[in-house]
Amino acid sequence: MIKLEKISKTYHTDKIQTLALKNIDLHVKKSEFVCIMGPSGCGKSTLLNIIGLLDRPGAGAIHVGGQAVQSYKDKHVARLRNDTFGFIFQSFHLINDLRVIDNVELPLLYRRMPGSERRERARAALEKVGLGARMEHYPNQLSGGQQQRVAIARAMVGQPEILLADEPTGNLDSKMGAEVMNILLKLNEEGTTVVMVTHDENEARRAHRIVRVFDGQLVA
Ligand SMILES: Nc1ncnc2c1ncn2[C@@H]1O[C@H](COP(=O)(O)OP(=O)(O)OP(=O)(O)O)[C@@H](O)[C@H]1O
Ligand SMILES: [Mg+2]
Repeated sequence: MIKLEKISKTYHTDKIQTLALKNIDLHVKKSEFVCIMGPSGCGKSTLLNIIGLLDRPGAGAIHVGGQAVQSYKDKHVARLRNDTFGFIFQSFHLINDLRVIDNVELPLLYRRMPGSERRERARAALEKVGLGARMEHYPNQLSGGQQQRVAIARAMVGQPEILLADEPTGNLDSKMGAEVMNILLKLNEEGTTVVMVTHDENEARRAHRIVRVFDGQLVA
């Protein structure tokens, strides 16, 4: 499903260069649930952003669903990203001026789809995460756990094959975090491939596999 070969990434800023990833080889199979763990600054978000085609590596090769990505033009990469991945972030990244239902519909705007179908799919995604009664609310009228569930609905509404989550429970208390984790596990059981960054060993234990990063490198 996802294959990274000898991926490296260096960030260049005025004063220093940071080698964020060194020679990463990683293979994620279809329907796997993989957790990425490691200390702050070790490169986890960088790795997730490269997997999700939000960022390009400095060196190495990426294959998504058997397609080699690195030679693609930006426009083609954007299309592949939008069709293949759903993203969930620690800080939800919802648009506060839009109602919940409109936030969830957003990823579908890039597809040719009648408005009524968009609305129906967004409604179904919100019902799936238990927020059928909150569709007309605005994000700041919801609890953190509810906001993250809206973000999950938005990530899933286009039925992506791969869900990428960067510390999705990092801003939630343990009860709300458990709810979010249970939804991700359920989506995975239904076939979605999940790659999730977490600091929580209890969450990571529930994944199929833990990948540990230290100082930009994978450790056994
Ligand atoms: N845009 C950037 N410009 C320059 N350096 C960056 C940039 N983004 C990340 N870095 C550096 O790359 C390294 C890896 O960062 P990354 O965000 O991937 O870490 P992380 O493992 O996700 O950390 P955390 O657990 O704190 O989220 C860090 O040293 C960071 O300072
Ligand atoms: Mg990070």
